[in-house]
Amino acid sequence: MVDWVRLELDVDQFDDAAFEPYLERAQESGITFTTLAELGDTAEHRRALYDLNRTCSADIPERGEFYTYDEYVAQRIEVPSFETAGVVLALHGGRWVGMSGTSLHPDKGHAFSEMTGVLAPYRGQGLSLALKLLAIRFVRSSGYRRPATFHHPRNASAIAMNRRLGFVDRLGR
Ligand SMILES: CC(C)(COP(=O)(O)OP(=O)(O)OC[C@H]1O[C@@H](n2cnc3c(N)ncnc32)[C@H](O)[C@@H]1OP(=O)(O)O)[C@@H](O)C(=O)NCCC(=O)NCCS
Repeated sequence: MVDWVRLELDVDQFDDAAFEPYLERAQESGITFTTLAELGDTAEHRRALYDLNRTCSADIPERGEFYTYDEYVAQRIEVPSFETAGVVLALHGGRWVGMSGTSLHPDKGHAFSEMTGVLAPYRGQGLSLALKLLAIRFVRSSGYRRPATFHHPRNASAIAMNRRLGFVDRLGR
């Protein structure tokens, strides 16, 4: 059985200013940030989101086979917790190179930090920190305080990314 690493962040304690330089640096290098809400929830954009998510998910330890496109739409997009404004995207020259998705669960009173992924050639430059800064602002502006996430214990980069942002072990749940 997998002993998942369960993490959460207190957005009131999150220090935006410490991560703004990553956003600025990415923008200076030609990356633009947007959301699916801004771009439009079209068939073309859903396919681009699927392709990016699938490509990045191939590097998640023991992720197994990814959804088919139809499964992805049915299980990840056309669900009540899906928020187009919660899909933060990084684009470079029109290419979708990074994403961070957050779902909202009003029934349980929590936000869930879903997939964060950056295409391999764009990794190691702080892009995930810029994406998550915007994702955390989305959580805050939506009225939620403690986004949660969980990772396979061997997903060292994702766990380190979230700890770097201030995520801590989620106890008791
Ligand atoms: C996890 C992932 C999103 C990180 O993206 P990235 O843009 O390369 O990460 P950053 O350059 O912003 O690094 C942010 C922090 O993450 C940690 N980190 C990133 N890559 C790491 C690696 N290979 N090993 C250890 N720590 C790493 C570091 O703490 C880093 O901060 P620091 O450089 O100041 O120490 C990227 O590796 C990825 O897409 N992985 C595959 C998909 C995945 O596993 N997603 C998470 C599941 S939801």
